[in-house]
Amino acid sequence: MAPVPFAPDNTAPIGVFDSGVGGLTVLHELLVALPQEDFLYLGDSARFPYGDRTPDELRAFSRQIADALLARGAKLIVVACNSATSSALDDLVAYVAEHGHGADVIGVVGPESNLAVAQTRSGRIGVLATPATIASGAYERAVLTVDPLVRLTSVACPQLARISQDGAPITEADVELARAYCTPLREAQVDTAILGCTHYPFVRSLLQRLLGPQVTLITSGTAIARRVQHALEARDLTTPRRTGEGRYSFLCTGDAAAFAAVGSRFLQLPMGAVDQIELAAGDASTLAAG
Ligand code: DGL
Repeated sequence: MAPVPFAPDNTAPIGVFDSGVGGLTVLHELLVALPQEDFLYLGDSARFPYGDRTPDELRAFSRQIADALLARGAKLIVVACNSATSSALDDLVAYVAEHGHGADVIGVVGPESNLAVAQTRSGRIGVLATPATIASGAYERAVLTVDPLVRLTSVACPQLARISQDGAPITEADVELARAYCTPLREAQVDTAILGCTHYPFVRSLLQRLLGPQVTLITSGTAIARRVQHALEARDLTTPRRTGEGRYSFLCTGDAAAFAAVGSRFLQLPMGAVDQIELAAGDASTLAAG
């Protein structure tokens, strides 16, 4: 795909993407922290889940989505998906820079890791995330870079995002599944647990109950809002709007009605219309094939 020229425009929206509805938990925090900004959210629901994808697939999908958001004028991109951040962030930053867009690309793993290290008192931190995120080792790298003495207990949770994306009521079987994922963290006596998947805040109460009230939960949304604000200020890209609230809109690659129905529960704000789009293969398909 031909490079999309990046013309910094502070009235443009912030682009946010995820494999589905989970990133709406991040968008929710951004809407609260930056009420005057406009946002454009893209959920790649046709290819959910990302948590079982290979690093090459995640890099290819992320490039396609960045192209779609930048073509619609996004002034900054938030990768509101831990699986995509873990395997694709470095590639995406280089891709966006190389193709002349020049937009900042911000992922969720770094801000969450910094917050977890700042929060822990015992130095024992747990992380629950998708198989792709755990296999990438991204949290080990991020946490141990901040504090090499932290003991990090990582647990891959293959089914936990599905519980949230389904939108179905939580069953006893779901509770037992979550209990099994939480057991290694309880045994390690962590005092801080990173919810390393943007879908997990939906089951936050369940996880808090299983881990115990003494454990501090760290989520992507709260961790990332300050990073986004800082990036906008540093580049003089903060919206000129000083009063009222900005607009937000939604794109998805799967069924739009299903996305809107489940999505409104994650967003906890009115969703309005959701447009279904197809992502162009472009340069990203070359990467996937390679
Ligand atoms: N929201 C994705 C993440 O943060 C996980 C869901 C999925 O497997 O697609 O990793």
